[in-house]
Amino acid sequence: MLVLAIETSCDDCAVSLMDLNSKALLHHQKISQENFHNMHGGIVPELASRLHAKDLPTLLDKTLLDSMSQVVCIGVTNEPGLATSLLEGLMLASMLSLIYELPLFGINHLLGHIYSCFIGEEEKPLSSLLVSGGHTMLIEFKNYSDVRLVSTTLDDSFGECYDKVSKMLGLSYPGGPVIDKLAQSHKSSPSFSFPVPLRHKNTLDFSFSGLKNAVRLKIDELKKASNLDETHKAELALAFQESATTHLIEKTKKYLDSKSDVNTFALIGGASANSLLRKKMLALLGDKELKLAPLEFCSDNAAMIARATIGRLEALLQDNTLLGASTLKSISLKDLKLILFDLEDGYKLDISPKSTCF
Ligand code: KG4
Ligand code: ZN
Repeated sequence: MLVLAIETSCDDCAVSLMDLNSKALLHHQKISQENFHNMHGGIVPELASRLHAKDLPTLLDKTLLDSMSQVVCIGVTNEPGLATSLLEGLMLASMLSLIYELPLFGINHLLGHIYSCFIGEEEKPLSSLLVSGGHTMLIEFKNYSDVRLVSTTLDDSFGECYDKVSKMLGLSYPGGPVIDKLAQSHKSSPSFSFPVPLRHKNTLDFSFSGLKNAVRLKIDELKKASNLDETHKAELALAFQESATTHLIEKTKKYLDSKSDVNTFALIGGASANSLLRKKMLALLGDKELKLAPLEFCSDNAAMIARATIGRLEALLQDNTLLGASTLKSISLKDLKLILFDLEDGYKLDISPKSTCF
């Protein structure tokens, strides 16, 4: 039995097939729009939506269509994200659901990122730091239906700040990998530093707008002195990366110091690929387990959405009397489809915009 998943929340267009029982990823195809948005210095929502409309049909390849008879349900990202991008995935998912008579599940993108570290394995309770282009959050996860937001950013997100710094330096989008690489190329300690945000505030909030502004002022200063050459850019990237990652680590430490029962901690989201953040997080966690998604599934993808769909099915079926003594492993595809239809009211999907994250 397979789960089919679709992800189009932002500028990545992806589909996947995952085995329901083993959670093994059997098929994954992704088309990234980075090159198109790069020329505009950031994501243009209208363009993203039109590119999804063009790319989604090409992802319905032979492997995927030949497997449809084994698919038990479809999971599609329905929040949060760019409305016009989400709608493209939702339309395709609704169409496939009607044609193949498959139950349809709306999946939360942020929960998808949490499930990116459970691909091919069972889920377990953990705390996590989600760092992406749109979010910076500490989240406690027990299962799909038991998730608590601990803290979030007051303004910009970690990844977004990298994108802005890259743009200010005249470099490409997405800025995260570019600034990370540039920072690593500077082999000595920087001759200046940026303040670490909210260092003296006793809260778990994050903030990046002040740091972004400090970087902007430094760039202006270097430009005035005609000093913004490649070496200075690399030095600036390193000083920025030091401050931004120290901020995340200080707040994560504060959170962990207040909790004695966290044994597993996950670093997730597109920006969890950051080299310095990974190094510092490993050092901070000591004997606690650090869970990371495989690098290719840190950024947006449909494998994590398929895995989250299975998490959602398991949470739904746990207390369900219709299932009786059966388990996901022993039930037939036909019976499971009927139960899921019953639980989720057929093809109906809630697509109303949500004001909360979970
Ligand atoms: O999770 P993701 O693919 O999309 C969202 O859900 O937002 O995250 C994309 C973000 C971008 O802002 C990108 O610049 C950032 O992740 N990113 C990084 C790195 N790689 C990607 N930020 C810092 N360091 C990196 N190595
Ligand atoms: Zn994401």
